[in-house]
Amino acid sequence: MKIALFASGSGSNVEAILQVHEEKKFDAVPAFVFSDRPNAPVLDKAKRYGVPVHTFRPRDFDSKQQYEEALLHLLEKYDIQWVILAGYMRLLGATIVEPYARRIVNIHPSLLPEYPGLDAVGQALAAGAEETGVTIHYVDTGMDTGEVIRQKRVPITAGETKDSLEEKIKQVEHQLYPETLQNLFRKGFKAR
Ligand code: GRF
Repeated sequence: MKIALFASGSGSNVEAILQVHEEKKFDAVPAFVFSDRPNAPVLDKAKRYGVPVHTFRPRDFDSKQQYEEALLHLLEKYDIQWVILAGYMRLLGATIVEPYARRIVNIHPSLLPEYPGLDAVGQALAAGAEETGVTIHYVDTGMDTGEVIRQKRVPITAGETKDSLEEKIKQVEHQLYPETLQNLFRKGFKAR
């Protein structure tokens, strides 16, 4: 059972998953990490865990479709069964979403459908919300619109800053994402 991890940034969620895998508490094998940003810190993290990395940018291709065809080719080459998005800052198109329907999962820092898209933490603070949270969901071609798999609340306390709230949310994510994926993979095994 092989998974690919897609990320554009720091990769703390990727690291949490690779850590659980290293501790042998994870059924799936992270076969490679892909980033659309060649300098993303996530790539160094993956290398530290001995996981192969791949990177190329949409602007190196004539169209988004060609970029995603190259990605799909990579997924097929490695015989990947699940695609795990962790801070991958692009919308996936039908080229990948259709062949991997209900096999692509994302994590988002809000209780969807509240605060989709960019800067969900800032959106929650700007709205004066008393709580926000984390959502793990299947990916469709919309912006954070796929079916919800699991959610967890995170309270917003007095004097909360963007940094402190982001930190609280990430702590929840790092525990919730590996655990939810593990459950999902086990259910997937039974269904087949
Ligand atoms: C996380 O907060 C995740 O919910 C969102 O992007 C952030 C990625 O953080 N999709 P990191 O790169 O895993 O640290």
